[in-house]
Amino acid sequence: MLTLGIESTPKLSSRNFVALRDIINSRSGIFFTENKKYLLETRLARRLEQLSLKTYDDYVMFLSYDKDREKELTELINSIVINETSFFRDQMQLDAFEKGVVPGLIERNSKEGNRNLRIWSSACSTGEEPYTLAIMLLEAGLHLNWSINILGSDINPRVLKSAELASYEKYSMRNLPEPYLKKHFFNDGDSFRLKKNALDLVKFKKINLIDSLETRQVREMDVIFCRNVLIYFDDASRKKAIGHLYDSLAKGGYLFLGFSETLHNITRLFRPVSFERTVVYQKI
Ligand SMILES: C[S@@+](CC[C@H](N)C(=O)[O-])C[C@H]1O[C@@H](n2cnc3c(N)ncnc32)[C@H](O)[C@@H]1O
Repeated sequence: MLTLGIESTPKLSSRNFVALRDIINSRSGIFFTENKKYLLETRLARRLEQLSLKTYDDYVMFLSYDKDREKELTELINSIVINETSFFRDQMQLDAFEKGVVPGLIERNSKEGNRNLRIWSSACSTGEEPYTLAIMLLEAGLHLNWSINILGSDINPRVLKSAELASYEKYSMRNLPEPYLKKHFFNDGDSFRLKKNALDLVKFKKINLIDSLETRQVREMDVIFCRNVLIYFDDASRKKAIGHLYDSLAKGGYLFLGFSETLHNITRLFRPVSFERTVVYQKI
């Protein structure tokens, strides 16, 4: 008699959930609360399939002892991170950057005979955030008299590859002001590719925000954007990442967090500065 084989997806036990949650947390800062167990199970099902592993016991063993464990840890993090981003995300913050923060920094740096502006987009995903800043600074004509360096970084090397390619679908450009599309992009089949002027202002690097050895390579930044990533961290990792960003900022430099993120209960080392309806944090 023929029996129909019903493929069952591996089930994640509470013990393995805790093991994976802790591996992910110590590696990336991202923290899965108990109610996200099913989410983790569905996100990781594909990893098990690709490794031809039948159970989560096997997967935890693989991550602990296999010779390829380092490579798999990277794959694990890549498959659970949220990479959602877009050009000109959260206009109010960008207004604060353009109308408040940049003019203040220009005045200060000029007085010190310094004509450099150093900006770090520290969890930049596929690059829309650092390229938005580049377009804004080009539009302001700042590149004519200033040396602008924008660093885009992320924990996930895959999104950085895509950022370097700078080829975007219409959807991620939904907030891009219409005239900028023609001015800063060219058509590339169904996609739009960023032109050289903006491309040349941005460099990319893989940096894990909770790894001090990696963040240590970035110093004396005038502005850091760290938006929409700390919401996925637990408190201890948030404190660690913010400590690293503090060290990477120049004195008087500014930190932008996501619209729903705050330094409340994390650190008092920064001075909150209000620009209309946005709060930006200044290193004092
Ligand atoms: C939701 S995206 C935010 C992108 C952009 N900042 C924005 O607001 O549109 C979050 C990004 O944080 C990155 N990320 C997560 N943990 C990280 C870590 N420990 N270090 C650096 N980047 C991290 C993810 O890979 C992802 O690309």
